[in-house]
Amino acid sequence: MTVAENVTEAAAPQSGVDYVFDPTWDQETERLRTNEALWDAGTIERLERLGVGEGWSALEIGAGSGSVAHWLGERVGATGRVMAVDLETERLGWIERPNVEVARLDLRTDELPAESFDLVHSRMVVQHLEDRPAAVASMVKALRPGGWLFLEDTDSLPLFRSAVSEDFLQDVRAAGYGLMRRSGHEPRGGHFDLQMALESGLEDVTAEGRTVMVRGGSDQARHYMLWLEFMRPRITAEGLLDDARIDEALREMADPAHRWLSQVLISTFGRKPR
Ligand SMILES: C[S@@+](CC[C@H](N)C(=O)[O-])C[C@H]1O[C@@H](n2cnc3c(N)ncnc32)[C@H](O)[C@@H]1O
Repeated sequence: MTVAENVTEAAAPQSGVDYVFDPTWDQETERLRTNEALWDAGTIERLERLGVGEGWSALEIGAGSGSVAHWLGERVGATGRVMAVDLETERLGWIERPNVEVARLDLRTDELPAESFDLVHSRMVVQHLEDRPAAVASMVKALRPGGWLFLEDTDSLPLFRSAVSEDFLQDVRAAGYGLMRRSGHEPRGGHFDLQMALESGLEDVTAEGRTVMVRGGSDQARHYMLWLEFMRPRITAEGLLDDARIDEALREMADPAHRWLSQVLISTFGRKPR
């Protein structure tokens, strides 16, 4: 049986599962920072296009290591405010801005402040949650009339497409994403964000996707290397790939001669009716 078949068989989402990544993993901070290195430029471009500016109140959900919350804090200025929430807030302590409030919060169970924000932004969070419609409903509730919901989640299918070879790292993608799916991660999350936004009574709903051409050995490549290191014990325990193949894949990712596509990150926007 090939890896892809094996993973597909194992891929049915399970109920009651937790967030796939481990906030206490010793390389988790670097994994989150390198995720920011991949996606922040495009996220900030879109936040600017939305018109985020002086005096806005913004909620950043699943703030990770905080680069977007920090940027928002600078952008909205002294008359605006930002609330940055995450399951794990130790990585947000560095922000230290009077207009940025950090709160430990579980989107699955905790209430967000109602009708309070001009912007609710969440990147690569909703697709990890079992009850995605409930998460989106709670974000919509947190918006003021006229406020924007901005969700970013991926379609992972194009990941690692490359000129190197037709099947470049495809065994790694199939093994890693198959296991993530079993832990509740939805690999087509961005598409479902759009559906949920359309079904949420929001106005002016639009969506678009972007992908990054990653160069081996870069900070961006490092993100995928850390992802694979995190997944390694899970992948080998299931017998999907062995350590030798994982070591070889890490060397391929470290090689500056290699370039590959990231996942597609789908940005969905919608506005709460006034
Ligand atoms: C893949 S990371 C993305 C981090 C950041 N948004 C970014 O794109 O750089 C997902 C983040 O969401 C947080 N998270 C996961 N489940 C959550 C939940 N139920 N409530 C709040 N935050 C959650 C994680 O702790 C992590 O920081």
